Amino acid sequence: MVFFNTKSTIILNRIIRAYTTTSNITVDALVYSNYGKPSEVLKWHSYPLPALTPETVQVKFLASPINPADVNQVQGAYPLKPPFQLLNEKDDIKYAVGGNEGVAQVIATGDKVKGIKVGDQVIMAKAGYGTWRTYATGPASDFQVLPMTDSVSNIQLATLSVNPCTAYRMLKDFVKLNKGDYVIQNGANSAVGQSVIQLAKAWGIKTINVVRNRPDIDALRNELEQLGATHVITDDELGSFETKSLIKEWGQPKLGLNCVGGKSATEMARHLSANGQYVTYGAMARAPLSLPASLLIFKNISFHGFWMSRWTDTHNMEERKIMIDELIDLMKRGHFVEPKWTQVEWKEEPVKAAVDQGIQGYGSGKQVILF
Ligand SMILES: NC(=O)c1ccc[n+]([C@@H]2O[C@H](COP(=O)([O-])OP(=O)(O)OC[C@H]3O[C@@H](n4cnc5c(N)ncnc54)[C@H](OP(=O)(O)O)[C@@H]3O)[C@@H](O)[C@H]2O)c1
Repeated sequence: MVFFNTKSTIILNRIIRAYTTTSNITVDALVYSNYGKPSEVLKWHSYPLPALTPETVQVKFLASPINPADVNQVQGAYPLKPPFQLLNEKDDIKYAVGGNEGVAQVIATGDKVKGIKVGDQVIMAKAGYGTWRTYATGPASDFQVLPMTDSVSNIQLATLSVNPCTAYRMLKDFVKLNKGDYVIQNGANSAVGQSVIQLAKAWGIKTINVVRNRPDIDALRNELEQLGATHVITDDELGSFETKSLIKEWGQPKLGLNCVGGKSATEMARHLSANGQYVTYGAMARAPLSLPASLLIFKNISFHGFWMSRWTDTHNMEERKIMIDELIDLMKRGHFVEPKWTQVEWKEEPVKAAVDQGIQGYGSGKQVILF
């Protein structure tokens, strides 16, 4: 005979309530089963949310951006390959869910889960999670809890872990920058570039910001200056004698940040001070970076690469938390604003079109899916 006292009945009820094998929540996701042109390989897929277990949490996604790396990942041209897996026991095809970054809210936690509770806002602990979906269930270690705040928008939180963190690390980890020192960067209107401008301003560092020329260049110049850019120049001005003299007058940068490659990236390297540090973190022009030997021999410039995913893999959650807390604090105090962004409607065709457009250039800011 089985005897239940009141306490064990309560516990049993909780178990039945929380750990049923099926979930009545349907997940909608943008997935792919092989690599290729995003509009051809991405497809809409709906499946039941995996059930909660004592060790897992369930989250509801609030917003997820479309970053250049997400597009490269779907194309199969990114070194970080997502896991292809059966999302649902009825599926016979293994899928990867698109997207690497986003903010989600915890909607349920298993009884053994510690340090994360219903209502918390979380970001992904690692790249490659698959954030173009409405819900997910996973171990608590898949997520990093954000400090509670009402004054930071979902757009800021959804776009926090890749671009602001990349800017933060590159400004801190390659050379000691003192107040008044200069940094030069290309792709300065990108989300990383906007983050560099704002962090540098908050920390008293000056920036020379290189952007591609365009018909409405004054509007862009104005936008970047509003963010805190010290100087904005176009890539076709970069190699001129006048620009060389101007930069010498302002102060030669100790640090160069390159996400473009090709000719303008070479020109930018020539402006660094002797013993300067040059960090390449992207290749938007899809052209190799060629370097004159004199920069290495006579100016002793050091060239590095940076990859945020590698940093995250090689540093612990506590180190990441210190960086994230500092960024959120700057956001709360109004020193770090939302990136320029446009909303992507959460439907198959608009998201596919947005992903295809993701790396075409001259865009109108970060594309963000709001769920
Ligand atoms: N290594 C890392 O850990 C890491 C982390 C974050 C980002 N990234 C890389 O950083 C870059 C920027 O990322 P994001 O998310 O900040 O980008 P984003 O906000 O989507 O902006 C894209 C940037 O690329 C420029 N661009 C596009 N096509 C170009 C071309 N053909 N030639 C020159 N510039 C071009 C755009 O300038 P226009 O307005 O002139 O088109 C814009 O400045 C990407 O390459 C991304 O993969 C790397």
